[in-house]
Amino acid sequence: MIRAVDLFSFSLPLLRWLDAEDAHRLAIQGLKLLPQVRPRADDARLAVRAFGLNFPNPVGMAAGFDKNAEAVDALLRFGFGFVEIGTVTPKPQGGNPRPRIFRLERDEAVINRLGFNNDGADAVLRRLALRAHLSGIIGVNVGANRDSPDRVADYVTLIEAFAPVASYFTVNVSSPNTPGLRNLQQGHLLDELLAKVIDARERMREKAGDSPVLLKIAPDLSLAELDEVVHVARSRRVDGMIVANTTVGRPSSLRETERAKEQGGLSGRPLFRLSTRMVAETYVRVEGAFPLVGVGGIDTGGAALTKIRAGASLIQLYSPLIYKGLGLVEDIKTDLASTLVRTGREHLAEIVGADAATLTAEAWPG
Ligand SMILES: Cc1cc2nc3c(=O)[nH]c(=O)nc-3n(C[C@H](O)[C@H](O)[C@H](O)COP(=O)(O)O)c2cc1C
Repeated sequence: MIRAVDLFSFSLPLLRWLDAEDAHRLAIQGLKLLPQVRPRADDARLAVRAFGLNFPNPVGMAAGFDKNAEAVDALLRFGFGFVEIGTVTPKPQGGNPRPRIFRLERDEAVINRLGFNNDGADAVLRRLALRAHLSGIIGVNVGANRDSPDRVADYVTLIEAFAPVASYFTVNVSSPNTPGLRNLQQGHLLDELLAKVIDARERMREKAGDSPVLLKIAPDLSLAELDEVVHVARSRRVDGMIVANTTVGRPSSLRETERAKEQGGLSGRPLFRLSTRMVAETYVRVEGAFPLVGVGGIDTGGAALTKIRAGASLIQLYSPLIYKGLGLVEDIKTDLASTLVRTGREHLAEIVGADAATLTAEAWPG
């Protein structure tokens, strides 16, 4: 029998006939309407323990798809091991004028310049509070309002507000679509931000329990900048890093050269090599101090395996789902589990970072 979820998953790429943002809205509405079937149980080999959390499998929904926490439980039912909502800002904001999402079909890529459009902390918090009795790992990705007079204070406000409902936080300092935001990756600014964020987390610990704090970085950092970012992240004792956000670069391999001129962050298949290299570069610098989440262009089980061998304990997907459908989640999990069986391994942890050193010695991806 064809299940409604399978039909939905299959039909997702068909939405590509629509304007990208209308298609996204329809996908969220469709997810909310799906019957509440139980997800298939995950192979025990795929379980990952990271940041003090037990992930049933390593495949997460990346930030930006469900910015407003409208469909988290439907996404968990599709087999994701965790869902990251947001980016949420304290106040609601509309983002940049439309059109602001562009598909580069022949490259299986996306360019977006949304600019943190979201319903704001109050509305999103209300939605998460309504499902707080349900299980599932829900990360909350936080950012600053575009017109905020004190961006650091915005992050602190969000940590305090969401601590009771967030399984973990992601501090997003890497979106290219809020002017000046990525400057927060600079050493002294990052140090001040992380000090205050970790402080807020500690203040909330008694009331709200522990909430791991992850830092999400851009793939466009130079290696000298990455040295500094990792140094600060380690000294401020963040719990992990997410590598990486969209790129402002335009790889020479792109075929949709006209569309590629649109301003914004590029994601999907053409981001795979650069973001994987950045995972490896981060992994060798972190020296096991905390785990990494790898994201960028993962569109097959093989690509997921490469990202894990580069140093990612967990992975996330977004743009490839637009081209492959939500069935990609099960495909990746099946491939990862069979690789473990074939190579006689018990857990994914055994291969995390296995290729990091080799990758960092290769020519820089163009
Ligand atoms: C339309 C769109 C919106 C996004 N919005 C956010 C966001 O709000 N916050 C964030 O941290 N990342 C956001 N991202 C970045 C993704 O989380 C991810 O880091 C990036 O797209 C690379 O992964 P992918 O190649 O699997 O898409 C967005 C990406 C896309 C395509």
